This record gives sequence, structure tokens and C-alpha cells, in this order.
Amino acid sequence: MPTNTQILLDHRPTDKVSPANFRIVESPVPAPGPGQALVRHTFLSLDPYMRGRLSDAKSYAKPQEVGAVMGGGTVGIVEASNNPRFKTGDAVVGSGGWQRYALSDEKGLRVVDAKSVPIQAYLGALGMPGVTAWYGLNRIIAPKTGETVLVSAATGAVGSVVGQLAKLAGARAVGIAGGKEKCAYAVRELGYDACVDHKSLRFGEDLKDALSNGIDGLFENVGGEPFQQALRRLNDFSRVAICGLIASYEGAPTALPDMRMFLVKRFKMEGFIVSDHLDLWPKAIGELAALAAAKKLKWRETIRDGLENAPQALVDLLHGENFGKMLVRVG
Ligand SMILES: NC(=O)c1ccc[n+]([C@@H]2O[C@H](COP(=O)([O-])OP(=O)(O)OC[C@H]3O[C@@H](n4cnc5c(N)ncnc54)[C@H](OP(=O)(O)O)[C@@H]3O)[C@@H](O)[C@H]2O)c1
Repeated sequence: MPTNTQILLDHRPTDKVSPANFRIVESPVPAPGPGQALVRHTFLSLDPYMRGRLSDAKSYAKPQEVGAVMGGGTVGIVEASNNPRFKTGDAVVGSGGWQRYALSDEKGLRVVDAKSVPIQAYLGALGMPGVTAWYGLNRIIAPKTGETVLVSAATGAVGSVVGQLAKLAGARAVGIAGGKEKCAYAVRELGYDACVDHKSLRFGEDLKDALSNGIDGLFENVGGEPFQQALRRLNDFSRVAICGLIASYEGAPTALPDMRMFLVKRFKMEGFIVSDHLDLWPKAIGELAALAAAKKLKWRETIRDGLENAPQALVDLLHGENFGKMLVRVG
């Protein structure tokens, strides 16, 4: 008899999150009630926002409940269904959480085409991270031909899509990534015009060299010192999309320098949360899927095997050890 492995939040981290904050339990696989479908997960998405949910500090979303199954995006296969919108064998994307099986009514569950692309793409470039890239680039930065767009965490789930969309929009794309291998991939595979390694001792000089025309659009995923340095290179009338500040999720807050620069540079800075723009998701996913079908959109994944390894995979994601979209193969 298969059981449902579930990972619960055992207690909130007081400092850095560790696997000890979670607890694994086994329970019977539930049977779908009226209107419900039973989904067997094949992949779980790990995302930086999960760190914020582990805290009970006031934020844009409700904190993860202690003692409950960790929330998270999932893809999988419908095993049994009492809902006419889903049939056994359908590939679906939803928010089933850190567990092997989940029951779902139709809310938040969507059938996807897993023949043209691997199913886990709906957790990455063709899912929430892809829409995030699409929104921040198109709706906040709106690059014009020849402008320079700087992207931090340039090879990550969000950043890799931003860089490619910026290039398709005719902009010059410059990435910041951690290490030579990520930077080489950013230029060779993703098409960035340049990529600067934030782990290099020459970071400041290399950033300056790569941005000889300044920055017209800054897509910020990280914060911290590289962000401070990037701000100094903004052009007049530039746009800054604050997508994420992962360096500050378990580290020091990222501060703004002298506010006078807003006035002098007349730039716009806007934070955004992709779930505030659900109306735009179908349009964004449609465009991203068309690019993927035309082989104009690439991505890369770090896959950890086994649901029981999800806590460590989250820790590793928060330490920047992923190379592309961080996933757990539920198996
Ligand atoms: N606003 C929204 O609605 C929204 C939605 C999705 C994601 N986000 C945000 O977008 C950002 C990227 O998310 P993602 O899912 O695409 O993750 P990701 O980029 O695939 O992974 C995180 C990457 O951040 C980089 N990083 C740089 N400095 C770091 C540090 N001090 N600690 C940890 N990582 C560091 C690492 O890449 P390097 O080794 O290359 O530095 C790491 O691989 C995150 O800040 C996330 O919170 C926002």
C-alpha cells in the first residue's frame, strides 16, 4: 500500500533555516471526495519566497502554519478524479505542497501539455518564475532597443528568462552571477552580452567595464553589495524592478543610499509580487510557451531526488547552490 509522505513545518527558524525545522510524516493516501482529484506529485518547486513564509513577520502573504504540510508549487499526474475537469492520467500543475499526494478541488489546479515540454517546465520558465521575469521586464523596465538591462541572479529561474527576454526586446543584457561556470553559461547559452562574477575579487572593476553605457533597466533579484554598486551606474530615467532580495532573506537588510540620487537620476524603482497580477498570467505563459516552442527560450534545472531531501534543497537554494531552477523529483 503506498503511503503519503508529507513534510511539515515543525518549528520556525530563529536564525538560518535548517532541515531540523521540518518533520517528515507518513499518512494514508487520501481518497478524493466529491469534486476532488487526487494528484501524485512528480516534481516539487523550491522557491526563495518559502523562506519568508517560515517567519510569522507581517508580509504580503500568510505565514506557513506550524505543524501543517509545507506549501509549494507542484506538478504531477491525476491518479483518481471526481471532478469532470480532470481525468486520470492528466498532467497538472498546482500548489500541492511538500507531499507525495494531494487532494485538490479545481481551484489552482490546471491541466498542462507535458508532451511538448517536460512537465517540470511549468514550475520554471513556463510557470511562476517565468511570469515573474515577464512582468518585471515588460511592465516595469520596458526596455527599448539598444538600452542596457542588468540582471542579478542571471542564470536562476527568474533571471535566465529576464536575460533572454531582454535580448529578444533588442536590449543589451548584462548578468551578475556567482562563479565562472554560471557566467560562462549566461553568455554562451542564454545570450547575455556580458556576465560579471560577484564572487570575483575584481567584481567592482568588471561591473564597471561591462556597463560602460550605464544601466537603463535593473532587474534586481538579490540585493546586498552588488545591488548597491549597480545603483551607482543607473542612467537618467532608468527603471529598477525590485523582484527579490535573496541576499537579505537570511542576511543583513539591503539599504538604499542617499535619496538624492532619485532626484538627480530621475529614475523609477518599483517592487512587485507576481501573484498580484494573475490576470496577466495566461498572456505571459502563452508568450513564454510560444518562445519555448520556437526554441528561443532555454532553461536549466538543479534536481534533487527524493521528497525527503526537500528541506536540504531549500537550504541550498537559499545559499545560492542551485544552477537554474531548483526542483525536487518526488519519485
Ligand atoms: N516578486 C515576485 O513575485 C517574485 C517571484 C519569484 C521570485 N522572486 C525573487 O526572485 C529572485 C530569484 O528567484 P529564483 O526563484 O529565480 O531563484 P534563483 O535565481 O534560481 O536562485 C537564487 C539565486 O540567487 C543568487 N544569489 C546571489 N546572492 C545570493 C545570496 N547572498 N544568497 C543566496 N543566493 C544568492 C544565486 O545565484 P548566483 O550564484 O548566480 O549568485 C542563487 O542561485 C529571488 O529573490 C526571489 O525571491 C520574486
